[in-house]
Amino acid sequence: MSDVDEIRQRLDIVEVIGSYVPLQKAGRNFKALCPFHTEKTPSFMVFPERQSWHCFGACATGGDVFSFVMKREGLGFGEALRLLAPRAGVSLDSKPRDSQKEKELERLRQANDAAANYYHHLLLHNPTAGEARAYLEKRGLRPQTIEDFQMGFSLDSWDGLRQHLAERDYSTTEMVAAGLLVEKDTGGEPYDRFRGRLMFPIWDERGRVVGFGARSLDDSLPKYLNSPQTAIFDKSGLIYGLHRARAAARQHNMAVIVEGYMDVITAHQHDITNVVASMGTSLTERQMRLIQKLTKNVTLALDADDAGEAATLRGLEVAQQTWPTKGVPIPTWRGWIKYQEALDGELKVITLPPHQDPDDIIRERPESWQHLVTEARPLMDYLFASVTAKLDLSHPRDKGAAVDQLMPMVQALVDPIYKAHYLQKLAQVVGVEEKLLMAKWTKPQRQPRRGASPRQEEDERPLFPSREPLEEYCLALLLQYNELRDNTQGLAADCFTRVENREVYLWCQIGTQSLGSLDASLHQHLESLATKPLPPANLEKRQEELKDCISQLKERRLKSLKILEASILREQEAEDDPSLQIVETGAQLQELFKARAKRIVS
Ligand code: UTP
Ligand code: MN
Repeated sequence: MSDVDEIRQRLDIVEVIGSYVPLQKAGRNFKALCPFHTEKTPSFMVFPERQSWHCFGACATGGDVFSFVMKREGLGFGEALRLLAPRAGVSLDSKPRDSQKEKELERLRQANDAAANYYHHLLLHNPTAGEARAYLEKRGLRPQTIEDFQMGFSLDSWDGLRQHLAERDYSTTEMVAAGLLVEKDTGGEPYDRFRGRLMFPIWDERGRVVGFGARSLDDSLPKYLNSPQTAIFDKSGLIYGLHRARAAARQHNMAVIVEGYMDVITAHQHDITNVVASMGTSLTERQMRLIQKLTKNVTLALDADDAGEAATLRGLEVAQQTWPTKGVPIPTWRGWIKYQEALDGELKVITLPPHQDPDDIIRERPESWQHLVTEARPLMDYLFASVTAKLDLSHPRDKGAAVDQLMPMVQALVDPIYKAHYLQKLAQVVGVEEKLLMAKWTKPQRQPRRGASPRQEEDERPLFPSREPLEEYCLALLLQYNELRDNTQGLAADCFTRVENREVYLWCQIGTQSLGSLDASLHQHLESLATKPLPPANLEKRQEELKDCISQLKERRLKSLKILEASILREQEAEDDPSLQIVETGAQLQELFKARAKRIVS
């Protein structure tokens, strides 16, 4: 939890504001004469459940405990933080500076690099690596390939690597943090993680060794033992072979994603160098973003089993996140469709012949690999083929099944031309008129929340949830695209409910962009926003996203004001106290809805 979160959680806003202004109980809430403007009847409210305050009078503004103290004391965010921290019993000890952290990461990478050299040397020269060398020869790998991919061998020993690295001044703690040693639960000396295995170094996109895949040379499991998650090794952001595929992917303007390390290595040995591998897990958006920096045309090689499942089984676990999302919808067909549309390039699928890896095919028949690649099917065509392969389309029941499965895929398309094309195709495939299909055209379902009526749901949604994805998305756009900064027309800073987001937004707006003008306690937050992975899109799409974010933020602010307003009205009725002056938000909200409806239609 960040310091800001912790302080917010530990302080009671009623107590803090109450120490500045006399508060009067008003139902579940408190009211007061607004400390920020002169008034005769109270229009300043404090909401304990939401831990927020709002002036419904001339100020028409509000926020959390930080923004109150900032406004009241005339302080910057950092000063308010330091004022409130002792009150909350939170100590703001200075965090390690970023450059310090970077130095530590670099040490971990160096330890992995040293390990890779050590394993490589063992493979080439150690007497106990004979079996490993024979294995590689049997798999047809040439010495140059073994060199290029810096393949290695780990001794069947508990401390071979540990001793080697200790001589090079790496501490045991560093070796554990680098993922190279395993700590026993029971204590005692950590020992070598990789023993008696063929070693495949794994590089990040900049070609730095960050971990290993270690293949067993017999039937022992797991077949591949990979580095654990560490500060430098995160499978969801790594693509095997990317640094070596860069030039070819750019040159051919296409990259092929296969599943195995061995597939990549064999492809490269045969001069097919635009091939990379996922890390044995479902592809993530982060991985796709790395590839897209090279090319927008991506071909996925799925093995025959996976390919058959993709459209049906995986389709059932449809990603339920709503935009904007930092999520990872890629493994589902809906995710892929969305991805393909944002890609502005082409996403194709190769279905491999049963029981054959790219490795086998390339080694035995390189020309048939080329054929598979040129014959790769566009994603939607592949989904169609995959669904209908299991059906007998002369039978009405199977026609129904085809429509049930394919219609949602067609509906998921955004581009109207694509949509029309595949609707037509579906009509042809099942031999039914498009008009009839349209009857199946359902509205996307909103996920109802369990046990809550819509009204309650809105009422109970906290104004300050622990994260604010919408706010963060908007800021990530502004921070990552300088070009967008002039497009924030009319987005008031208090549309951001989280004070840290509000501060970053204000900082964005001053334009000087010197870090010094943002409180140091927010630098980490800023960095995480500036490097937040966004789903792929071009600048034009980004502009639309920003527009959308802004109108959602405005709308949300007005909506929460409506809810607050309604709750005040209810209380007034109960207390028969008409004294509160309320700003009319209804009309503004109407305007926004109208504007949005127009955008959707156009
Ligand atoms: P494969 O079993 O197809 O491995 O797994 P491979 O790379 O083709 O190796 P060979 O040809 O059998 O020697 C595909 C990928 O899945 C991950 C690895 O990334 C592997 O390259 N994987 C597989 C694991 O991480 N752990 C495992 O136990 C198995
Ligand atoms: Mn294989």
